[in-house]
Amino acid sequence: MLQKKKVLIGISGGIAAYKAAFLIRLFRKAGAEVKVVGTRNAFEFITRVTLESLSENKVYDEVFGPQNDYTTEHISLTDWGDVFVVAPATANIIGKIANGIADDALSTSLLAFNKKVFVAPAMNCKMYDHFATQKNLQTLREHNLDIIEPAMGYLACGYEGKGRMEEPEVIFEKVRAYFSRNDSLAGKTVMVTAGPTHEAIDPVRYIGNHSSGRMGYAIAEELARRGAKVHLVSGPVNIELKEDSVNLIKVTSAGQMLEACLKIFPEVDAAIMAAAVADFTPGNQHASKMKKSDNPSGITLELVPAPDILGRMGEMKKKNQVLVGFALETDNEEENARMKLKKKNLDFIVLNSLREEGAGFGTPTNKISLINNNGEIIRFNLKSKEAVASDVTDNLTAFLEKID
Ligand code: CTP
Repeated sequence: MLQKKKVLIGISGGIAAYKAAFLIRLFRKAGAEVKVVGTRNAFEFITRVTLESLSENKVYDEVFGPQNDYTTEHISLTDWGDVFVVAPATANIIGKIANGIADDALSTSLLAFNKKVFVAPAMNCKMYDHFATQKNLQTLREHNLDIIEPAMGYLACGYEGKGRMEEPEVIFEKVRAYFSRNDSLAGKTVMVTAGPTHEAIDPVRYIGNHSSGRMGYAIAEELARRGAKVHLVSGPVNIELKEDSVNLIKVTSAGQMLEACLKIFPEVDAAIMAAAVADFTPGNQHASKMKKSDNPSGITLELVPAPDILGRMGEMKKKNQVLVGFALETDNEEENARMKLKKKNLDFIVLNSLREEGAGFGTPTNKISLINNNGEIIRFNLKSKEAVASDVTDNLTAFLEKID
């Protein structure tokens, strides 16, 4: 089931460390390869021999230890792993991840790891509820780490409350679901628009907006990671695309974006229109630079409507296609979004409000609601744009499954 998957298991010093043995067994039985990274305290709770026997690999617990083949083992180890599962995660290791502290093998490896991380907290309920732990966990969520919430129950310290590490079966299932999601969009083709458009006034000046393009790029990358063939039609942005398989089509103006979308849309299963397209464009573009000396008393710009790309796609949409729009609103958010959903013939709309702190332009985070064409609304917390992309992709996948 998880054949050839490479799982790093991070163990920190808590009584729940004994459960890591069961977790390793589950991954090994499912065909995954496992390597363990532990903190010094972890070995107060579970022996190295147990972990090495179960994982069938050497345990890594020192950054510069004599057992290392070379001193950058934390880098080769993190290159090796597909996912990192920290179970149990103490308040201490959670604090280190949130604050970029790297002072032992586990925290150093986590800092060098840029793929999916799952964190299964385990601690006394008062430590779990402490504002510092909660703040650190929120930081992790905002950076797209997956927190496997601890359960309520009897704790080793004698207290009853929230803080007991989730059972190995539940942790295993979350990781398994993450891997199986990875090809859930295989065979599907999706178009994504992203970024601002620049509407030329003359050869050196344009009208633009503050869109960074991050949201659309995160969606395109997430779709590609789940196996979809992705065409990303992008306005001018400053982002490096992380997924090589995405077909990037660079455009500048709303007119060019429309032209590209008209070509691609008939061939796709779905389109997610995340671009901040100009609503107005200069009526007549000057062929040469406008000079101050020619316009001593100023100029008046005539702006005409730019093409409504999403609206056009809504008119063209066939029954077996899914169309998704974005709405960035400042007032009567929900009502306006519902109107847009209907008017533009969308399947669902992603609503973000400029009034929400951390949502909107230029931020690494976003807070959205999804409104489906059956009227249902799903509200989400403030998250990283990558995590938001994953939520949007989950909803799209549900729509595509209904069509199949
Ligand atoms: N959009 C588009 N083409 C445009 C303007 C917007 O494709 N010329 C798309 C955006 O990519 C987004 C959605 O329409 O998915 C919502 O954009 P928004 O500017 O909020 O909506 P408008 O229909 O332009 O309405 P208004 O400006 O009146 O809010």
